[in-house]
Amino acid sequence: MCGIVGVLMKKPAAPVMLEALRRLEYRGYDSAGLATLAGGSLQRRRAAGRISALSQLLDSEPLAGTIGIGHTRWATHGAASQHNAHPHRSGPVVVVHNGIIENWRALRDELIAGGCVFESETDSEVIAHLCATLLARGLDPRRAAMETISRLVGAYALCLLFEGAEDMMICARRGSPLAIGYGEGEMFVGSDALALGPLTDRICYLADGDCAVLTRTGAEVFDASGAPVQRPIQTVPMEAVLVDKAGYRHFMAKEIHEQPTVAGYALARHLSADRRHVVSAAAAIDWRTLPRLSIAACGTAFYAAQVAKWWFETIARLPVDVEIASEFRYRQPPMTEGGATLVVSQSGETADTLAALRYARSAGQTVLGVVNVENSTIAREADMAIPIHAGPEIGVASTKAFTTQLIALACLAIHAARSRQAITPETAAALIDALSSAPRLIAEAIALEDQIAVAARDIAETESALFIGRGTMHALALEGALKLKELTYIHAEGHAAGELKHGSIALVDATRPIIALAPHDDLFEKTASNISEVAARGGRILLITDRNGAALAGAEAARTLVLPEVPDFIAPLVYAIPVQLLAYHAAVQRGTDVDQPRNLAKSVTVE
Ligand code: F6R
Repeated sequence: MCGIVGVLMKKPAAPVMLEALRRLEYRGYDSAGLATLAGGSLQRRRAAGRISALSQLLDSEPLAGTIGIGHTRWATHGAASQHNAHPHRSGPVVVVHNGIIENWRALRDELIAGGCVFESETDSEVIAHLCATLLARGLDPRRAAMETISRLVGAYALCLLFEGAEDMMICARRGSPLAIGYGEGEMFVGSDALALGPLTDRICYLADGDCAVLTRTGAEVFDASGAPVQRPIQTVPMEAVLVDKAGYRHFMAKEIHEQPTVAGYALARHLSADRRHVVSAAAAIDWRTLPRLSIAACGTAFYAAQVAKWWFETIARLPVDVEIASEFRYRQPPMTEGGATLVVSQSGETADTLAALRYARSAGQTVLGVVNVENSTIAREADMAIPIHAGPEIGVASTKAFTTQLIALACLAIHAARSRQAITPETAAALIDALSSAPRLIAEAIALEDQIAVAARDIAETESALFIGRGTMHALALEGALKLKELTYIHAEGHAAGELKHGSIALVDATRPIIALAPHDDLFEKTASNISEVAARGGRILLITDRNGAALAGAEAARTLVLPEVPDFIAPLVYAIPVQLLAYHAAVQRGTDVDQPRNLAKSVTVE
């Protein structure tokens, strides 16, 4: 987590860095800070809280200088306070850091024994002191920086500035991402291309272990062994870095409403022009002979994986293990020879998912990365990347990435099913037709927003809610509970509807809303029985179903939302909409920060 930026410019650095930090705020927003060099001397400003707090501070205490580094923090070591905010300084050195320095205690003890005085509780401050100590021993900034970096154990993307060096910045990465941007007589560094979007579209992604020395005219890059290397400079399409609310009150609202469009776009990329074949077919895998598939992911991406398990197993008859990425490698599961692993990640930077990828690879699996950010570490390390084509997702709560992950996974499942001859060409065509109707049906679900907002009022007033569903709706129930928790801070649980009677039904009373996700499918009768069991105990049910479901079970519910009738295969794509909108409107009504809920960050690059 954390976002970092560095600029070497011809014009004042602080306003440009502030804007870049705003674009990086999705990575963390506990505190923020900037440092510049003006007239050769270092200055810095830091503030607890959002970038807006730093901006206010800069209004009263501006920063001069055309070279600088900046940071927006997601706290790991030490509270979200001003003194823990980056940049950290030691004498003539300032540093911004994203990641975790695992040997920070040992380094800190050593540095304190040598006379260093620490002002923060962070792991990052050791970097500044270590580098300053080496400078004091007579090393030049380059050598001091390289030697400092060589002593760090853990994950880092960092930028260093040195007093008196108005045309030099040193940066490095291991485990955390870092991109260099090339301008005209100006150079930039950022955690991602998004940060550098308005500054340049010429981006070079550093490889793991790289270190770079930047001046205004270019960058020298060195690999982990210290050898000079050339990393390719890519042109990033402007639409990939556009960040705009387009008139919506929140990014999340905009991203929910974008779903019909991005779903249509994603389908156009995954399917042939005649809509008869899947073209994003993951050639790295021989689906005909694949014995077993694992899918590893975190949070919302994990729930997309749970839906995908249902699809792969039912239509492709392919056994699937779905793995919580943060648990996967520690369990060290034996992996089937010749097997494959999908890792699903919007950001492509989630540390646990990346570690799952590396574990699967070391266990001999072919690894596919299903990602939104196409230049992300996961996309680059996987044997093959399958983009989901959602476009930039800025709201911390994942919405359009979830539905487009589902589209990519559904396409893969159809392709696998055909390759394994588990379904006929006619069935595959019918499934593709169903998928092709998703943009329209998602739009019809979004059109019910006013009704959903009214239903959300009931939920906003409670402190606890239960979501229930069967089959793919179980995964949606888990997703609904996650969305509600993260956006409103209301306690929520998702349950397999049939599992409720094994204990959790004790929670049912007249105060706690129970949201039943129940399209009229093969499992409807079973879910309806579970709804009756809840109703018989005085439970307050919000039934989300279709016309037939409403006719059969609506009487049991306090309120019913009637969605369009949908082919079973794509029900998860359409039922995601009320789940997202319920949480969104409940959050708006409670006045919580929709786009940046407390304690969270969009890209979780720590374990
Ligand atoms: C919830 C949410 C998170 C992410 C999770 C994985 O709304 O967004 O649960 O899904 O942190 O992130 P990625 O997909 O970037 O690996």
